[in-house]
Order: sequence, then C-alpha cells, then structure tokens
Amino acid sequence: MAKVLAVVGSPRRGGNTDILLSHVVEGAASAGAEVETIRLGELCIRECDGCHACWRGRPCSKDDDMRAIYEKIAACEILILGTPVYWYGPTALMKAFIDRFVYFNCEANRSMVRGKKVAVAVVLEETHEETWRPVVEFFQKSLAYLEMDLAGTIVAPGVGEKGAIRKETQRLDEAHRLGVKLVAYS
Ligand SMILES: Cc1cc2nc3c(=O)[nH]c(=O)nc-3n(C[C@H](O)[C@H](O)[C@H](O)COP(=O)(O)O)c2cc1C
Repeated sequence: MAKVLAVVGSPRRGGNTDILLSHVVEGAASAGAEVETIRLGELCIRECDGCHACWRGRPCSKDDDMRAIYEKIAACEILILGTPVYWYGPTALMKAFIDRFVYFNCEANRSMVRGKKVAVAVVLEETHEETWRPVVEFFQKSLAYLEMDLAGTIVAPGVGEKGAIRKETQRLDEAHRLGVKLVAYS
C-alpha cells in the first residue's frame, strides 16, 4: 500500500489549502493509499541556519518537529505539499519547511528523497498567472534540485475568504483526480 504524506502549509486550519489538500488526500485514499496529513501551523519548524550538521552525519541541530518529519518523508512514497500565496511567495511555514530540505542535499541523505513523487497545490486570492507562477516555480526548481519527481500541480486562483474554495467544485474534482492519479501510477 502506497504511503502518502500531505503537508498543509497554511496556518488557517480548515482554510482553502486544507480543503483542497483534503480532496487530493481523499482521491489518494480511494485508490488504496495510506494517508497522513500534517499541518505545519501546529508544529514547531525552525529556520535552517546552514550549519550543515546533517551533512556530517549528525542530527539536525534544530531539535524540533522536523526531526520526526524527516523520517515520515523518508517513509512515504508520495508527498503532497500545499500552500496559499502569501505576498507572492509560499507561506513562511512552507518556506521554513522547504529550507530544512537542505538535510536531503548530501549524498548520505539524498536517497531518502531521490525520485520521490511530489504533488503541489497552491491557492490564492488573485487570478493572475504572474502571481502564482513564481510559487509553482519555487517548488519546481527546489524539487528538481533534489531529484524529486514533481508529478502533479494544482492551482486554485480566486479564492480569498476561508472556505471559498468549496464553491469551486470543478477544482475540487480535479484535486480528487490528482490524488487518484498519484497513487494509480505509482
Ligand atoms: C499574509 C497574507 C498574504 C497574502 N498574500 C497574497 C498575495 O500576495 N496574493 C494573493 O493572491 N493572495 C494573497 N493572500 C490571500 C490568500 O492566498 C488566500 O486568502 C488563500 O485562500 C488563503 O488560503 P488558506 O485559507 O489556506 O489560508 C494573502 C493572505 C495573507 C493572510
């Protein structure tokens, strides 16, 4: 059974990112995956300060929740990352989370993520592609650098208020189909 780890990068519990990811997750579960969802807003994930203890075979010098998440990332086959756009970038929560992927940027740890399938979900209030494109590229470039496999992207523009995405039924169906596809072709 494929293991899926979904990571909600919005601090707003029950918000649009949470709802969108829940549909991807339901799709993955319907295709037989075992799914776990974590919410970065409920965890303590500090900044990477580039000490590179991890590159010397030592645990991350930040003794926080990321230590356990490294293990969850290593153990899953599929990672689903969701963030709203915050000031034309990902949230600070998601940025800190991805910064900590420096851990995987050494030969000893790279095998934990090399080839791992990832899907990315982005929500935003504006509707211009110029607003969401850099956020998608942030993921594309960072994941490619780590030799991860960005297997699917879903963008939901035009959703600002909490829960506004519930009206976007086609987008939610697309999210469900993405979840099914991620597992069916894994
Ligand atoms: C601090 C902050 C910054 C934001 N910056 C942008 C932005 O630059 N562009 C945009 O389209 N929406 C922006 N938004 C709106 C959110 O992307 C939007 O409300 C989204 O649906 C929130 O997702 P959530 O419900 O999962 O938290 C911002 C919201 C907040 C709170």
